[in-house]
Amino acid sequence: MKKELRIMEFLLQHADNHTVSFHMPGHKGSAIYKRFGYDEFLEKFMDCDITEIPGADNLFQAEGIIKAVQDKYRELYDVSHSYLLINGTSGGIIASILAAVPAGGQLVMARNCHKSVFNALTLGGIRPVYAYPQLIPEYGISGEITCKEIEKCLAENPEASAVILPSPNYYGVCSDIAAIAEVVHRYGKVLIVDQAHGAHLKFFEEDMPVSAEDAGADIVINSIHKTLASFTQSAVLNLNSNRVDRYVLDDKLQAIQSTSPSYLLMASLDINASILELHGSTLMKEWAENLDYFYSEAAKICAMDDSTHSQKPNLEFLTGLKNFDRSKINIDSGGLSMTAAQLEEALIKRGIVPELTTGNILMLMTGIGNTREDYDRLLSALKQIIRERRQQLGSSSPSPSAQKGASHTDSVLMSRAQVPLSPTPKKTQLFAIPKKWKRIPLIEAEGKICASSIIPYPPGIPLVCPGEMLDKDTIAYIKALRDAGEKVIGVNENGEVAVGFDE
Ligand SMILES: Cc1ncc(COP(=O)(O)O)c(C=O)c1O
Repeated sequence: MKKELRIMEFLLQHADNHTVSFHMPGHKGSAIYKRFGYDEFLEKFMDCDITEIPGADNLFQAEGIIKAVQDKYRELYDVSHSYLLINGTSGGIIASILAAVPAGGQLVMARNCHKSVFNALTLGGIRPVYAYPQLIPEYGISGEITCKEIEKCLAENPEASAVILPSPNYYGVCSDIAAIAEVVHRYGKVLIVDQAHGAHLKFFEEDMPVSAEDAGADIVINSIHKTLASFTQSAVLNLNSNRVDRYVLDDKLQAIQSTSPSYLLMASLDINASILELHGSTLMKEWAENLDYFYSEAAKICAMDDSTHSQKPNLEFLTGLKNFDRSKINIDSGGLSMTAAQLEEALIKRGIVPELTTGNILMLMTGIGNTREDYDRLLSALKQIIRERRQQLGSSSPSPSAQKGASHTDSVLMSRAQVPLSPTPKKTQLFAIPKKWKRIPLIEAEGKICASSIIPYPPGIPLVCPGEMLDKDTIAYIKALRDAGEKVIGVNENGEVAVGFDE
C-alpha cells in the first residue's frame, strides 16, 4: 500500500527530486541565496522565527528595522511609500480597495481580476462595474483592458471611486497603464494596479512593458514572491501618490493582515531588496539573455528537419503578443494534437514543472532564480516531446480537436459579458447576492443566481460570482472542466453548486 505523505515529507521528497521549477516562487530554491552569501540565514532559519521582541520593530507601526526595509523598497521602486505585506498581494488588494472605496460605494474592476478583488467587494459591500478585457481569439486568452473600456465605465458610473485591473495578466499581457492612469485621473478617481505577476518589470532594462509604478498608477501591489527572490506569501505594496490617505491604508492593512507577521517572510523581503540593490542589474541582464537564448533555441527546435510531414506538427510559442512580459513562456500545444494538460504531463515526466495549463495554452513562469541550465533542460525536454509526437502522429495532420483558441476559461469568462447582470434596466447592478441559498446539481442550475463563487483553479479568477446568473454555456464549460479532472472551487464533490432561492 502507498504510504500517505504528510506535508513535511512531501516537501522533503520534492526538494530531493530536484525538478526544474517554472512555477512560483521566483527564487527557484536556495541556490540564489547561497550564490549571494545568505547561507547563514538558511542555516539558522528556525532560530530566526521570532515575534515582536524588543528591537524587532512592528509591521503595523514600522519605525526601526522593518521601516528600513520599507524604505529600501521605496527607493528601489521610486515611489512615495512602500509596505511589506505578509498576506500576499491578496491582502494588499483587499486593503487598497477598502481604503479607496467607501463602504457601499462603486468600483470599476476588470472582470478577470483575481478572487481577492471579489472578496474585497463582499467585505466592503462594494458594487462592481465590470470592465471586460479584450479576447485574443487565436489563443482564447484575455488580452489588454483598453483605456476606452475604462473610460466608458467611468463615464457611465460617476459614483465609482476607483479602478482596479491586473497588469500583467496571468499570461504576461499588460495593459497601457500610462494611458489608463491619464483617464482615471482626469475623472478624479484612484487607479490600483494588481501587479502580482510583474514585480520584476521595474528592474528590466529593455524590451519589457513599463512598470505600473513608472506609468503613474496610484497604488501598485507586487507579489515579490512570484517572480523575484522572497518567500511565498511575501509581497510589497507601493503607494505612488497622495490620492489615497496613507493612514486609512495603514488602518486597512492592519485590519486584514495577520497580527503575527512572520519575520522569516519579512527577512526574505529584506534579502530580496539587497539582492536587487547590489546585483539587480547583473541578474536582470542574465534573465533577459536567458530568455532571448530560450526563444531563439525554441524556434530552432520547431524548425527541426522532418521528412514525414509537409506541414510539421509543432508547438507554438506566443511571443508576438502586444505589450507582453516575455518572462512568461506561453506555449500553444494544439499543433501537436495535445492539450496543455498532456504537454504538462510530458514535461513533468521529464522533471520540468510548469505553472498553469488551460485549454491548449501551457504557461511556464520564469523567475529571477532560473539558471541557464534550467532553460537548457526545458529545451531538451521540448525537443524530445516534439520528436516523439511527430513520430506518433505519423504522416497524419493534427486533429481538429487541437484547433487554436480551444475552449478556455478566459473565452468563457468573456462570453459571460452577454449574460444578464441585473433584472433592472440599471445594468451596472448585479442581482442581489442571495441571502437564502441551497445546493443543487450544477446541471440543474441554468437561470439560477449564484450564491458562492465558482472558481476554476488555476487561474483563480471567479468564473461565476455571487449575484451572477448561471447560463447554459457556462454550466457546460464547468462540467467539461470537472470531467477533465480540473479543480473548480465552488462545485462540491457531488457536483452541486450554491444558488439562491425564493421562499
Ligand atoms: C492576478 C493575480 N492577482 C493577485 C494574486 C494574489 O497574489 P498572492 O498569491 O501574492 O496573494 C494572484 C495569485 O496568483 C494573481 O494571479
